[in-house]
Amino acid sequence: MNNQIVVVCHSGYGHTSRVAEAVAAGADASIVSIDAEGNVDPTAWAQLEAAKAIIFGSPTYFANVSWQFKRFIDAASSVWMKQAWRNKLAAGFTNSAGISGDKLMTLQTMMAMAQQHGMLWVGTGMMPSNAKASMRDDVNYLASFTGLMTATPFDASVDEMHPGDLRTAQLFGARVAEVLKLHAAH
Ligand SMILES: Cc1cc2nc3c(=O)[nH]c(=O)nc-3n(C[C@H](O)[C@H](O)[C@H](O)COP(=O)(O)O)c2cc1C
Repeated sequence: MNNQIVVVCHSGYGHTSRVAEAVAAGADASIVSIDAEGNVDPTAWAQLEAAKAIIFGSPTYFANVSWQFKRFIDAASSVWMKQAWRNKLAAGFTNSAGISGDKLMTLQTMMAMAQQHGMLWVGTGMMPSNAKASMRDDVNYLASFTGLMTATPFDASVDEMHPGDLRTAQLFGARVAEVLKLHAAH
């Protein structure tokens, strides 16, 4: 694990955390957790400032980021004032119960926030698995480009998450690491 890429994530019931672990494994990233009160460890701010890429993660609750994640966004106001995240790479992921579940709005909230910080947004860069022959556990079955989407039935445990979603999450992390390498080379 290196500190160039940091995944910052909230998860109410553990599902989004599991996605965060897969993303972090693919990106060789460390994870900062947003707790149930919407706080991060105070040392996390310096960690985020030192990072070259930040990957944001939140469950979708009522068609947007969780209030804890929004609290984190608002707590980053002082970062915004300094534009301390300017020109870092940014990417986002969300998990929700529905295949849609309106989770594009969650990713768009993250993307707009990243744009306000002057960050450079990285999408999935992945072809969708949306042919007749596609299977639920194929990579990018949810066919998302803006950011990583995963779907977990509301009554499924963390252990019952779709393996294809977790594989997609790992590839998404690797994609951010790949783009960071290209970015660093220029
Ligand atoms: C308050 C609340 C609101 C939710 N709203 C949505 C929603 O708008 N769309 C959806 O597909 N799932 C929705 N869900 C389901 C969660 O997104 C889903 O259970 C997800 O796996 C939770 O992730 P977590 O375990 O990381 O908290 C909602 C769940 C809760 C508790």
